[in-house]
This record gives sequence, C-alpha cells and structure tokens, in this order.
Amino acid sequence: MFRLAGLMAKPKKRYVCQACGSVSHRWQGQCADCAEWNTLVEDAPATVFSMKHDLSSGGRAVEFVELDKPGPLPVRQPTGLAEFDRALGGGLVPGSAILLGGDPGIGKSTLLLQAAARIAREGRGVVYVSGEEASGQVRMRAARLGLSDAPVKLAAATGVRDILTTLGSMDAPGLLVIDSIQTMHSDTIEGAPGTVSQVRGCAFELIRYAKENGVALVLVGHVTKDGSIAGPRVLEHMVDVVMSFEGERSHQYRILRALKNRFGAVDEIGVFAMAGEGLEEVDNPSMLFLSGRDEPMAGSAVFPAIEGTRPVLVEIQALIVRLQSGATPRRAVVGWDTGRLAMLLAVLESRCGLNFSSAEVYLNVAGGYRLSDPAADLAVAAALVSAMSDKALPARSIWLGEVSLAGEIRPVAHGGLRLREAAKLGFDRGFGPLDVKGGSSALAYDGLGQLANLVDRVIGNS
Ligand code: TYD
Ligand code: MG
Repeated sequence: MFRLAGLMAKPKKRYVCQACGSVSHRWQGQCADCAEWNTLVEDAPATVFSMKHDLSSGGRAVEFVELDKPGPLPVRQPTGLAEFDRALGGGLVPGSAILLGGDPGIGKSTLLLQAAARIAREGRGVVYVSGEEASGQVRMRAARLGLSDAPVKLAAATGVRDILTTLGSMDAPGLLVIDSIQTMHSDTIEGAPGTVSQVRGCAFELIRYAKENGVALVLVGHVTKDGSIAGPRVLEHMVDVVMSFEGERSHQYRILRALKNRFGAVDEIGVFAMAGEGLEEVDNPSMLFLSGRDEPMAGSAVFPAIEGTRPVLVEIQALIVRLQSGATPRRAVVGWDTGRLAMLLAVLESRCGLNFSSAEVYLNVAGGYRLSDPAADLAVAAALVSAMSDKALPARSIWLGEVSLAGEIRPVAHGGLRLREAAKLGFDRGFGPLDVKGGSSALAYDGLGQLANLVDRVIGNS
C-alpha cells in the first residue's frame, strides 16, 4: 500500500538569525555564526520530500547564447557623478542590481537623489521609491539640493506588489532606486518588513523585474553595528554590485567603495564631501586626510595609502596616557582595527621591550578615514612609539610596512608607487621594509628590517 505519510519526512523546525540569515534547527540565545544575541526567530519549516524526483523531463527549453557569437552587450550608463561612476567601474549596467549600504545619516539617500536627478535630466526615466520618507520630504531635500527641476518620478511606497504593478503599466525606467530594502514588504511572504524572509523575497522580486526589463536597480541597505549590511547576507549574493558608503558623521568626507562588483574592479573609491548643498565630488583626495600642520608633533605619523589608482595620505595619531592606579587601561581606536592594535602592542612589548600594560592607548585616523590596509602597521607603530617617547617623527616623513608577529617589517603592495606619489606631494623621507621595488630613489628612503630598528630610530633619535 502506498503511504504518503511515511514518504514525507517530518518538517523540522528552523530558526533564522535576523542579523545574518544563518539557519539553525535549535533555538539559541546567541547566533552561532554572527554572535548577535536574541536574533533567532522561528521560520516556516522547509518541506522536505524524500520521494524521488524526476527532474530530467517536462521542463521548458532554456535558451542558449553563444559566447563566441557577437551580440549586443549592455552599455554602461554614466550617472554624471564622476566619483560615483569611478567606484562603479564606469557607470550603471542596465539589468543589474546594486546594493548600497552605509550607516544611517551618512548620505545614501542624498547621493542617490543627486545621481537620480542627473540621469533624469539627461532624459532617461528614473523612479525613486522611498519607504522611509514621504514624497514631500524627498521633494524638500531635492529643493535644498537645487534639483527640483529634474523629472524624477518620486513615490512613497513599501508594498512590492504595488510597486511592480505600477512599473509594469509604464515604460521601464533606466534607473530604479529602492530606499530602503528593509522597509519593503511582500504580501506573499510572512513576517514584518526587515525580517530575513521579507528582505530576501522582496529583493528577489525587484531584481527579477530589473533583469527582465533592463533596468539598473539600486537597493539601499541598512548597516548593523559591526558594519555588515543588515538582514541576510544572502542579499550580497543576489546582487551584482555591493557598495558601502563610509565616513564619520562628524566629519565632512565620505568614501564610496565597491566591496563586490561583477562588472569591474573593487579597489577604486569615490570621494565626496558633505556640504550645505549636498555631496560634492572630490577629485583629488590625496591630501584630505592630513591635519595640515607643518610642525612635526609627537604621536603623529603619515601613511601613504593607495585607493585603486589614487594615493591618499593619511595621518595616524596616537596618544598614550600612563596610569598611576592599577585600573585596567583603556584602548580606544577610531578608523582602524582594534584586534590589529592589540597585536601590534603585543609585538612592541615582546619584541622591542616596550611596556604598555599600565598605559591607556588611543589611536585615531584623521579626517574620519577608515584604514584596512595591512601596510599601515608600521605607521601605526611609529605613531605609538613616538607618542610613548614623546618624540616627534622626522618632518615630512611617511611610514609604510606590514609588521609580522616576529617583529619583522614585511614588504607591501605598490611600495614604489606609494613612495613616488608621496614624493610628488612634498614628502622627502620614507621609512619602510628593506625591500621596495622602484620608487625608493624618489625620496630619502630608510629600509628597516625589524620593528626594533624603528624603536631605535625614534627613541635613539638617530
Ligand atoms: P541622508 O542622505 O538622509 O542619509 P542616509 O540616507 O544615509 O540615512 O543624509 C542625511 C545627512 O546628511 C543629514 O544628517 C544632513 C546631511 N546633509 C547635509 O549636510 N547637507 C545636505 O545638503 C543634505 C541633503 C544632507
Ligand atoms: Mg536615507
């Protein structure tokens, strides 16, 4: 006798983390993947059939395109904001989906409204759907930005069915902005807006519309405390480009970075300054993140960063406060990785005999810049040693090199280019690894083999 019940496995309960989207079959207070607390929520069970499927017939034919037969390729559409285009790798690709993440208030809506207005003024259709602000608010902002004359179609809506029905009844726009994906809602999916299943389902429908109609789609995504895009990480797999808009809200400068790009490189950045009339493009960012002081000061070191093809000189500042009492000393970092600072302090202690155990350490990257390049290790170490000994580093000097756990100074990518660019900007002394390819003749260069050599240099003042 055929017994269906026996063939269908009992559906297991599933719990989905609302922060990262990982699935677990047991409820836990803390997500095992992203370590967030109280984020696991019961989800509809996945139906599991153990009956044998035959998927080898009965489907529709899939159309093949020959790679070697020339056909029309999608043409990139510049947004008119050169810095945005640079970060995108040349412009928006029709039929692609972009996820733009960033802290609240950093300027995502402003950036997209400015780009939308530029594109609309060129006569291409643009639809801007805001789930967070009323149309009136968006119009007020546009008026402030001097964009009121741009023929952008604004809507305040959160229902994906309504949005897609409306779009289906008109000519497909060139650009569709959804601000933000966390506010969108689909009535075919259970759960409140912002939950993993809603975000995933809404994004899927919108991306499908964009691909079928050759529309460039931009989804705004909120960012969690630790900087990842809130909601499911699967969203990052579903889109073609993931961009993040970074900066400190208290500073003027903003950096647009591609974290993933199916159509271009991911190392170019766009630099903007937030001004009274919205975001201004900064086409020569090399000196922005320096404090502009001429006198050398203890605790400050300059690192030549490379962003894509452009050099960016960044000032790193360290402050060391000796504690009298036995209280646990603080370590506070802005713009750099806390774990990396702990590592560097450990190497300075164990390889160079310095003692930070009773000292508070503060580290700051000037101008709200966020450093992730390991080549910054030596500059951070130089700032720390200089702050500790209260001796300024040589004037107009730059520092580059990765520090290993053994205290060696390791070569870095584009060493020569960094030195040449720094020399062009008026720096005349460089310190770094022994081995740099090209460029070390552009300025007075000292190769340091070990971190201990740096300490001798600074404290011994040689
Ligand atoms: P917004 O684009 O709303 O940020 P997001 O969408 O990422 O949350 O930007 C809001 C901030 O930008 C707000 O705090 C004020 C600032 N701002 C300016 O300084 N100048 C301007 O012309 C505009 C429009 C905003
Ligand atoms: Mg916004």
